[in-house]
Amino acid sequence: MKFFVDTADTAEIKALAATGLLDGVTTNPSLVAKSGRGMADVIAEICRLVPGPVSAEVAATDTEGMLREARLLAAIAPNVTVKVPMTEAGLAACRALSLQGVMTNVTLCFSAGQALLAAKAGASFVSPFVGRLDDIGADGMGLIAEILEIYRNYPALKTEVLVASVRHPGHVITAARLGAHVATVPPGVLRQLFVHPLTEKGLAVFLADWAKGGQSIG
Ligand code: G3P
Repeated sequence: MKFFVDTADTAEIKALAATGLLDGVTTNPSLVAKSGRGMADVIAEICRLVPGPVSAEVAATDTEGMLREARLLAAIAPNVTVKVPMTEAGLAACRALSLQGVMTNVTLCFSAGQALLAAKAGASFVSPFVGRLDDIGADGMGLIAEILEIYRNYPALKTEVLVASVRHPGHVITAARLGAHVATVPPGVLRQLFVHPLTEKGLAVFLADWAKGGQSIG
């Protein structure tokens, strides 16, 4: 499974990219606004830090406006993935961009029907928001299972399921068990995946025993 980080904080991206475990980055208008930087500036820096797909979202709501913004975003770097909303206008833009060979991510997906349409529009990625579904008492991971089942019935569909709105490590583990292609994870949740109390406890014992022995490796 590919790991993307869901942030526009370049210090966080730089630190996580140093692990060699990052396959891409997703941003959205809220995350870019929170960074306090201009879209072109922050996306260009992220694209230099991570060679994989970097999602940058359009702000227009009509197809022509989205396509105009998409051209500007795609010109920033070859690894920009243009994010469009899951609307009629967004899918028309997605279809046009996919025919031009531009990578796309259809965002704000909350149903299997929407995911099927996104795939038919040629999206490179579809982003179902599992956390926001859980927030309203719906079953976010159930939607991922449903979408994967549908996509597997039609091998010609090449859209990857990008699990978004991830809130905790359990979402990531369930996504991996289901065979989702990608999870985009906030930096804090990604760091939680590294940690287990028994790892910390075991390491402390190993290091204490090693120190007592007085040996040195190098
Ligand atoms: O980037 C899209 C998505 O991951 C947003 O997550 O936590 O705002 O629901 P959240």
